Amino acid sequence: MFSLSLGSPNLSGETDLITPPPREVGHLRDEFPILSTKTYLASHSLGAVPRRTRESMAEYVDQWETQGIEAWDGPWWDAILDFGRTLEQILGADEGTVVPMTNATRGMAAIASCFTFEGKRRKIVLSDLEFTTVYPFWRGLEELGATLEIVPSEDGLGVSTERLAEAIDESTRLVVSSHAYFRSGALQDLKQLTQIAHAAGAHLIGDGYQAAGTVPVDVRQLQIDFYVGGCHKWLCGGAGAGYLYVRPDLIETLRPRLSGWFGLASPFDYDRETGRGTPHPGIFRFLGGTPAVPALYAAREGTRIVAETGNAAIREISKHLTNRIVEEARARSFTLRSPLDPEARNGMVCVDIEGGQEIVTELSAQDIIVDWRPDCGIRISPHFYNDFSDIDRLFHALDTLLKK
Ligand SMILES: Cc1ncc(COP(=O)(O)O)c(C=O)c1O
Repeated sequence: MFSLSLGSPNLSGETDLITPPPREVGHLRDEFPILSTKTYLASHSLGAVPRRTRESMAEYVDQWETQGIEAWDGPWWDAILDFGRTLEQILGADEGTVVPMTNATRGMAAIASCFTFEGKRRKIVLSDLEFTTVYPFWRGLEELGATLEIVPSEDGLGVSTERLAEAIDESTRLVVSSHAYFRSGALQDLKQLTQIAHAAGAHLIGDGYQAAGTVPVDVRQLQIDFYVGGCHKWLCGGAGAGYLYVRPDLIETLRPRLSGWFGLASPFDYDRETGRGTPHPGIFRFLGGTPAVPALYAAREGTRIVAETGNAAIREISKHLTNRIVEEARARSFTLRSPLDPEARNGMVCVDIEGGQEIVTELSAQDIIVDWRPDCGIRISPHFYNDFSDIDRLFHALDTLLKK
């Protein structure tokens, strides 16, 4: 057993919203079947599926089979609402501030469609460490008048708020920033960045993909305007269940142009001439067409187990496990491409070893699952279902492979 202590509040924006009892590392192992056959350390890419998800998916098909269209106004609508409630708990958000999106890019598009990129305020500020999807999406807006300022990282791990602040001025419309960078796991101080954006009259979009589920998130405390992400990594929820959070006082002031019948106050009540209708009074105005209901069933158990286990407990387990990786890597003089301070990184540690890409293939042949990316090296991501034996097995295998 270990004591629960909260990490740096200015990095993670965490508060102890959910106060779980102390937990032991690995106590939820049996809930994740893949761990019985593989040493699974790739939750930054795809979280393990909980045992209960099979039932949840079967429930969806049963409802389809037995209820037909009646499932829409019954369990499927409830699934849309439940998804929002569970994500609100995980993100520390107020009720009625989170909606499903098919992916994070779609969430960013919904936000972008609320703004114009003309006149003096047309700049979008982002770092050169954002996830790949961000660049084609925001570059596309240059055709609508936006200008992009891409701020380079100093060290390839993170980007300082000071550097980003130099780019944020009265011409800035939006600032887009990862909460944790996918290349290194380094955390960004979104609270400070939000303050900087607001002081310049801009809005901040946080990309929480590599944070929510492994790092405590508290969007209320961050005072962030928008937060997007998806469930298939640290939320163990599979693909297609993205999410969008909007700050409650902003919701009513924004009217997304990227809209659809689910975004209206009443889906069939719109002006046939203009095609426009009254937007939904709440967060649903950010929906477009039919939500991806099967993906919400796939996401249900993973997000629930994360919410039940609690942000603080997961973070504590994660720090124990990532510290072990750092210790083992340092003992072998491997190059680390993640922050050494556990408070400054998420649940992933990148270890750069010569021949890393081939090593990952050889590890996979031994049922040890990690991945490799250029400029990162081998990405190792334990989650709350792993234990020290997984890390020991990985390093033992690495020792054997490197001796060959
Ligand atoms: C930080 C980050 N943002 C976004 C994405 C993906 O975005 P989308 O849901 O639009 O595919 C990923 C990984 O898949 C990611 O690591």
